Amino acid sequence: MKSTFRKVLKWTLRSLAALVVLLVVAYAVIYFITEKRLSKTYDVDVAHLTIPTDAESIAKGGHVIATRGCQDCHGKDLAGNIMIDDPGLGRIVASNLTSGKGGVGGEFSAEDWVRAIRHGVGPDKKPLKVMPSNEFSGISNADLANMIGYIKSLPPVDKELPDHNLKPLARVLFVAGPLAGLTTADKIDHTQEFTDKLTPAITAEYGKYLAVSCSGCHGQDFKGQEMPIPGMKASANITSSGDVGKWTETQFMTVLKTGKRPDGRQLNNKDMPWEMTRNFTDDEIKSIYLFLRSLPAKQELQASAK
Ligand code: HEC
Ligand code: HEC
Repeated sequence: MKSTFRKVLKWTLRSLAALVVLLVVAYAVIYFITEKRLSKTYDVDVAHLTIPTDAESIAKGGHVIATRGCQDCHGKDLAGNIMIDDPGLGRIVASNLTSGKGGVGGEFSAEDWVRAIRHGVGPDKKPLKVMPSNEFSGISNADLANMIGYIKSLPPVDKELPDHNLKPLARVLFVAGPLAGLTTADKIDHTQEFTDKLTPAITAEYGKYLAVSCSGCHGQDFKGQEMPIPGMKASANITSSGDVGKWTETQFMTVLKTGKRPDGRQLNNKDMPWEMTRNFTDDEIKSIYLFLRSLPAKQELQASAK
């Protein structure tokens, strides 16, 4: 009896030890892969832009900033924020962009700004984390220069923030897929032809240019998706096959300006950032409406795939 027990105990301990070794090896592999991806260097050809300092261009840049979601992560004053500090995932910090203490504004050259915003790459040529540059790489040279002009015009804010700290769970999810968006430099075509200037117009085409900043939450096809961060509400299908397909332009505008749906339900700004979308001009919202409604409905997509 005793010897059977001992055998079972020995066997259990051995399996446990094997499991621990396996886990340690698996994590070492994951750590190695993530470190390799995070320390990869990108030699991108950075456009040389002249950063404007006149009031009109700076105001235009402020409008782009207010409608592209920069403030959701970097804060209203762009002085940075601790975005996530989770025992499992770790800490992710959106940088202080001003020229105050702890900010990058005092050190960044025009090229550093372009490399970061458009290419998702830091001055050390390594990929930035969580910064969704894939949504910004299509921004025209003129809009990008105005944005940088606006950031440089901001009052310096002294705010020193802690470093990032990626915990095991974040690394596992980064490799496994759900957090694949942790870096975006690897998802951007750095050699694409960048548009010099776009003239605003009430067209689906201009709406497409603006709606790129909706795709991070609503998906590349704008049909809605589950969010990668736990606790975040799933987004909605905002193409013609969703409720947007049934709403008039005025109703759509009310949703983007106030968060109030035609049926009276109030969307929470924490889920759907209407405090950002309300900064669009009426003409811009009309363009986005045209673009979203021009997208084929799900059924048609499936039918054409057959
Ligand atoms: C989803 C959150 C998010 C949004 C939206 C976002 N950023 Fe970032 N951004 C970050 C994080 C996090 C970092 C820090 C990356 C790092 O240190 O690896 C960052 C880094 C940067 C940097 C580089 C600073 C540095 O420390 O090297 C610049 C410049 C920047 N962002 C500008 C912008 C601008 C302009 C916008 C809007 C067009 C924007 N960001 C939108 C999260 C965001
Ligand atoms: C940070 C994530 C995020 C961004 C960015 C975002 N949305 Fe949303 N949006 C959501 C979520 C989540 C919902 C669902 C909220 C709910 O049902 O309570 C939603 C709902 C909506 C709705 C209501 C749809 C319905 O059927 O109820 C519209 C319209 C909409 N978004 C349009 C946009 C547009 C246009 C943009 C870009 C200019 C945008 N959103 C950017 C997360 C986002």
